[in-house]
Amino acid sequence: MLAAAATFLAVVVASSLLSGKKTKLPLPPGSFGLPIIGQTLSYHRALNVNAGEDWFRRWMTTYGPVSRLSYFNTPTAILAGASGNKFIFSSAAVTAKTTASMARMIGRRTVQDVVGDEHRRVRALILRFLQPDACKRYVAGMDAEVRRHLDAQWKGRTTVAVMPAMKDLTFDVMCTGLFRLGRDDSENDAIRRVLSTEFQQLVKGISVVPLNLPFTSFSKCLAASRRGRRAVSGIIEERRAKLEKGQSSPADDVVTHMIAEGLPDEDIIDNVMFLMIAAHDTTAALLTFLIRYLDANRDAYEKLVYEQEEIARCKAPDEALSWEDLSKMRYTWAAAQETLRLVPPVFSILRETTDDIEFGGYRIPKGWQLLQPTSTTHWDPKIFPEPGRFDPARFMDTSVVPPFCFIPFGGGPRMCPGNEFARVETLVAVHYIVTRFRWKLAPGCDGSYARFPLPYPSQGFLIDIETRNHQTTNG
Ligand code: HEM
Repeated sequence: MLAAAATFLAVVVASSLLSGKKTKLPLPPGSFGLPIIGQTLSYHRALNVNAGEDWFRRWMTTYGPVSRLSYFNTPTAILAGASGNKFIFSSAAVTAKTTASMARMIGRRTVQDVVGDEHRRVRALILRFLQPDACKRYVAGMDAEVRRHLDAQWKGRTTVAVMPAMKDLTFDVMCTGLFRLGRDDSENDAIRRVLSTEFQQLVKGISVVPLNLPFTSFSKCLAASRRGRRAVSGIIEERRAKLEKGQSSPADDVVTHMIAEGLPDEDIIDNVMFLMIAAHDTTAALLTFLIRYLDANRDAYEKLVYEQEEIARCKAPDEALSWEDLSKMRYTWAAAQETLRLVPPVFSILRETTDDIEFGGYRIPKGWQLLQPTSTTHWDPKIFPEPGRFDPARFMDTSVVPPFCFIPFGGGPRMCPGNEFARVETLVAVHYIVTRFRWKLAPGCDGSYARFPLPYPSQGFLIDIETRNHQTTNG
């Protein structure tokens, strides 16, 4: 740990001494590979067989912690480790970057694309619906959605494919909480179905090569995006009409708030599309892999079930969870954080330099991408001893986790504003899953997974389930 801290200090001091001087430092070591293709295919092939960590380990063994490569036909630098994370999260000369495929499907006016004051403004509009005070108000609605889903998709079954079930759940939680698509009318149900279908298709195109030729998977994603945008446009019209008639208020939901604040319709559509992508598969991956790790780690499972049973014991059978109940779920959230360390839904963070920068003795020109793999700290044995072991105890006291080493939600002014929403949703879902069901990996399912780029387990992670009696202790 001390050695890591010393290296970190040395690099930061060196970087700050160099900044400001117009020295001609060398470019980072590395290779741009073949023209156009660069390292894109080899990196994506590694992700597709869940070997992303090994890919980066090999690359860094060859070229060191600061290196260059070509990703999506753009010069790219990797600044590995805690010092690299700190630099990209705090440097004024670094901004967010969206892949070309994402920009074409989602739009170029999302909170992730805009910069400076515009970014601060749009982020504040969204944060109003994601900060802890807002999340408190979502608990009852999330509770009802989780119960509804478990009744419809788990109860009475013997086998469940976890990932598709969790995707459905998180999609509906987001529609109910963030976009206020109520459950009380058939029109809203129809909009949910359209959006859900289109977004299942759309997420497949997040990091593919954006080739819009007939029959490519990207052209299908673009078509899904067009249909999704039409549905979102319909929501905007309906919300604007209600606002004008005084039947709603900007505080009701994020779309009405954006309309009231005068955001152009195209910007609202881009942001709603982005939120739908950002909010739904990420949390579904967290829930799926948490269930997978609990299956494989009985000790952690027993502790987590004990914590949840203690809470269930104090509730009437149909009483919803409260904000206070969630504050007692410390071990459960530690287990979720350990899952995020081992299988972060977002494997690497992409940025772009807005000026020439100097880091670790190298020059990185303006316009280069920065690719920040989470694994260089999440899987570093000097930071997390025995990194492959699932050990929620690491996160029972987060003050011992060194800064800039645990980054599943990114960091700095672009850090994920949905982390609290994801935490609340995860805790509510886990409560009902573990108090109502026991599960084990189904025969023939090996629990392996690949990344596209989000982690997706083979067969969606099939489990055999049985219903447990309420108010009992460990299974
Ligand atoms: C386990 C669940 C989630 C994970 C792991 C996750 C991860 C991330 C990461 C890594 C980033 C990029 C941060 C950076 O560039 O530094 C991000 C950005 C973002 N996320 Fe999440 N996210 C999750 C859930 C959510 C939810 C539930 C929402 C909304 C309800 C959300 C909304 C956003 C938004 C709006 C941004 C862009 C922020 C900006 O550019 O200012 N995320 N997320």
